[in-house]
Amino acid sequence: MMDWTDRHCRAFHRVLSRRALLYTEMVTANAVIFGDRERLLGFSEVEHPIAVQLGGSDPVALAKAAVICAAWGYDEINLNVGCPSDRVQGGNFGACLMRDPALVAACVAAMKAEVAIPVTVKCRLGVDDQDIEVALDALADAVLAAGADGLIVHARKAWLEGLSPKENRDIPPLDYDRVHRLKARLPDVPVSLNGGLLTLDAALAQLAHVDGVMLGRAAYQQPELLLRIDSLFFGEEDPHADAFAAVAAFEPYVAAHLAAGGRLHDITRHMLGLFTGRPGARAFRRHLATEGVKPEAGLYVLRAAVDEVRKAEERRSLVA
Ligand SMILES: Cc1cc2nc3c(=O)[nH]c(=O)nc-3n(C[C@H](O)[C@H](O)[C@H](O)COP(=O)(O)O)c2cc1C
Repeated sequence: MMDWTDRHCRAFHRVLSRRALLYTEMVTANAVIFGDRERLLGFSEVEHPIAVQLGGSDPVALAKAAVICAAWGYDEINLNVGCPSDRVQGGNFGACLMRDPALVAACVAAMKAEVAIPVTVKCRLGVDDQDIEVALDALADAVLAAGADGLIVHARKAWLEGLSPKENRDIPPLDYDRVHRLKARLPDVPVSLNGGLLTLDAALAQLAHVDGVMLGRAAYQQPELLLRIDSLFFGEEDPHADAFAAVAAFEPYVAAHLAAGGRLHDITRHMLGLFTGRPGARAFRRHLATEGVKPEAGLYVLRAAVDEVRKAEERRSLVA
């Protein structure tokens, strides 16, 4: 998620689930080709399995970028056909490509011709005045014929005229049934549903209709949710009994970042939502927000923030 996630966020989420597939924020094909690759594509081995999301609409550039990403070790390439921002529209990629299935198919075919890893597409139901029955099928059929290995559908339209990207994540109504119909029509194609899934129960219920689910904001804002993914979705043991144990297990990663000259806040900014809904959550956030941003902040700041939650829980149990 652009402006929110980065490699440290993913490393943190990986501590919470061994199995969830993690995605990078969108990186444009030209940035991959011409930009600072270590900054844009660098990731830690612990992040696997990890998909890189590309933005673009030039098949040649996307194929070049895909080759670079595959060589960097990504496990999957995902093409963004959902971002509604003006800048992205100006570059003729993202959600406006819902209007041009043939071009998206050419992009997918060009990438598939060059890389052996899966190439998937994340799209909307349609844009603006498109008929979602026609638009989604047209996009899906075109990219599948071009070799796409799966679809992730953000289950709402994007309105390219008049709504900001933020509004475009909430205002166009969700229509899960439309994604279910797509899946029913494409029994052999992996179809995942995204949009508005706030709890693991809600996400699990979707698996009666689709093959996978993608969590965006809920995963970022309440990462504790991820602690039960491995057991609930994959039938495996969860990596940690609770968030306290997960933070302890994450300490070596944080320590290595600090030892390499990085700042605590680079990492802890992604952890602010960890104890959401628990006593002490606010004190945890406040401690990280005030002490964690100091240049000299070390692991002791993270430990002290976690202690705020422990103390609040002890106080509550004494009162009870
Ligand atoms: C800050 C922010 C940045 C986002 N950046 C991307 C992005 O880079 N690529 C993408 O496919 N979707 C992006 N999204 C959209 C989410 O992936 C997701 O489709 C959307 O938020 C709906 O899912 P949710 O209700 O689970 O959050 C972004 C969302 C937010 C809030």
